[in-house]
Amino acid sequence: MTKWEKYEALLPQLASLIDGEEDKVAVLSNFVALLHDEMGFFWTGFYRVESEELVVGPFQGPVACFRIRKGCGVCGTAWERGEAIIVPDVEQFPGHIACSSFSRSEIVVPVFDVTGTVAAVLDIDSCELNTFDETDRLYLERAVTLLTPYFTIPC
Ligand code: SME
Repeated sequence: MTKWEKYEALLPQLASLIDGEEDKVAVLSNFVALLHDEMGFFWTGFYRVESEELVVGPFQGPVACFRIRKGCGVCGTAWERGEAIIVPDVEQFPGHIACSSFSRSEIVVPVFDVTGTVAAVLDIDSCELNTFDETDRLYLERAVTLLTPYFTIPC
């Protein structure tokens, strides 16, 4: 199965998995578990925007750093720019935060709230160089749009 075929099969599975569940933590947890298992990534998880920092959320994989400041590392840069970042070699990304020495490449995709503001980022790491490309960006950006309704503005 090609990566493209895997994502084509996975997107409807993600949509039906979370359909009907209203609890955000529950949704993010199972979303990330299915994505991680089906795609065989090394680390797959969310960092949530909390005040002026990213705080780790539901994830699959080894222990990760708790907090990342805006503009720091790949996650903080994707948050600041409001766009996905593909890193073919983490050692070449200035300021990369190494939570695991096994991580060699990564992709970070912003999750937007209902107003179009970045509310979280989806961070995926691989143990190999050059794992992620435009196919990953395209499908992961589509996948995280399923989560936007869960990021509403508190009254
Ligand atoms: N790679 C991230 C840090 C988080 S861990 O990889 C889980 C970064 O540089 O933003």
